[in-house]
Amino acid sequence: MTDLFARMEKDQGPLGQHLKRAHGYFSFPKLEGELGSRMKFRGKEKIVWSLNNYLGLVNHPEVRKADAEAAAKYGLGNPMGARMMSGNTDLHEELEAKLAKFVSREDSMVLNFGYQGVMSCIDALVSRHDIIVYDGEAHACLIDGIRLHIGYSYKYKHNDIADCEKQLQRATKMAEKTGGGILVITEGVYGMSGTQGKLKEITALKKKYAFRLLIDDAHGFGALGATGAGADEEQGCQAEVDLYFSTFVKSMGSIGAFIAGPKSIINFLRYNVRSQIFAKSLPLAVVEGMLKRLAMMQATTAFKDKLWHNVNRLQNGLKERGFDIGDTNSPVTPVYLKGDLPEATGMVMDIRENYNIFCSVVVFPVIPKGQIIFRLIPTAAHSDEDTDITLRAFEEAKKKLDSGAYHADDIPDMSEVGLGQKGES
Ligand SMILES: Cc1ncc(COP(=O)(O)O)c(C=O)c1O
Repeated sequence: MTDLFARMEKDQGPLGQHLKRAHGYFSFPKLEGELGSRMKFRGKEKIVWSLNNYLGLVNHPEVRKADAEAAAKYGLGNPMGARMMSGNTDLHEELEAKLAKFVSREDSMVLNFGYQGVMSCIDALVSRHDIIVYDGEAHACLIDGIRLHIGYSYKYKHNDIADCEKQLQRATKMAEKTGGGILVITEGVYGMSGTQGKLKEITALKKKYAFRLLIDDAHGFGALGATGAGADEEQGCQAEVDLYFSTFVKSMGSIGAFIAGPKSIINFLRYNVRSQIFAKSLPLAVVEGMLKRLAMMQATTAFKDKLWHNVNRLQNGLKERGFDIGDTNSPVTPVYLKGDLPEATGMVMDIRENYNIFCSVVVFPVIPKGQIIFRLIPTAAHSDEDTDITLRAFEEAKKKLDSGAYHADDIPDMSEVGLGQKGES
């Protein structure tokens, strides 16, 4: 027998193992001050590239005013209860109708959280006889939704359409045996690499195979497409994407999410998505704030235009300086470098402490050993100056990385926890 707690104390997990050295610096850092491109970290101003505030709306004065007025009018608890029981309102329905129209669908359903919401939608959409075919790099919330499925699920190699077709063939054979249907799940934009899901190619497979398609467009909504309606608008295949999911936590700078599609199916979801039936509805203050954001996005493309000005300035600047930014075709800007954990931490610290730039870094075990990915998120809130300072910093830091200046035998102890515990170990 094992005591569960003893096991967890011994093994804190793949990321948790770094807690003692990393907590508060590399993980769980505290950014302070007004949300935007300049915030404070450990008391010093940094240029921040790690907020998915694509359109810069989160701290826009009109949005802040609308949020504050809505919170004053309704409080944060209103309405009480789940939508189905006592938590439905005209404003929730108005938001659903407007979101549906914006993404060119018949209807939509608001979800109180994106992660649990889409997990639970997947759970509701498939029965034990159905088969799920999904992209190998799908977001954790999609994977968790697929884990809830007790029938078959087949993974295809990330954005590999030939493999997607192969898995569809397997799924079709299996569905003929079980009598079920097929749900394909992909993303509009992959949040780590910035590459768009190949929606056009996947929807083209509908000519050969019978399936329904669900996309998670968390990073595309607001940022892609002529009107900002997302990756499927950009790729010209909205009519073939059966269900469109996105969250309010990125371009909309708030909380909550929605799923849009045919009216009959959205009604089915309203009555069958467990994470909504058995959970409190989205607060009215959030719903009213969302209506304001949507109206602003529809009134002008200025936010999206500013975003893309900054995306192009940053991505072109990096490419001109010889950086590998992969195949991104969205605002998400990865910078691929070679090095191990000590080099990665040395470079992050140099960039953060000496150049005052705060961005996320991804290393082993999230990606293979020997690779470092810096991930920059340009937004409409950044200025040309922010970008130019950052480009110069990356240029200098890359020279140091290449010359071995960041080489170290171990990673430094930057943790608030670690600092507090010095001398103990
Ligand atoms: C691709 C993707 N899907 C879903 C989610 C979860 O959404 P939420 O934060 O609204 O729970 C995220 C992260 O926010 C995401 O990046």
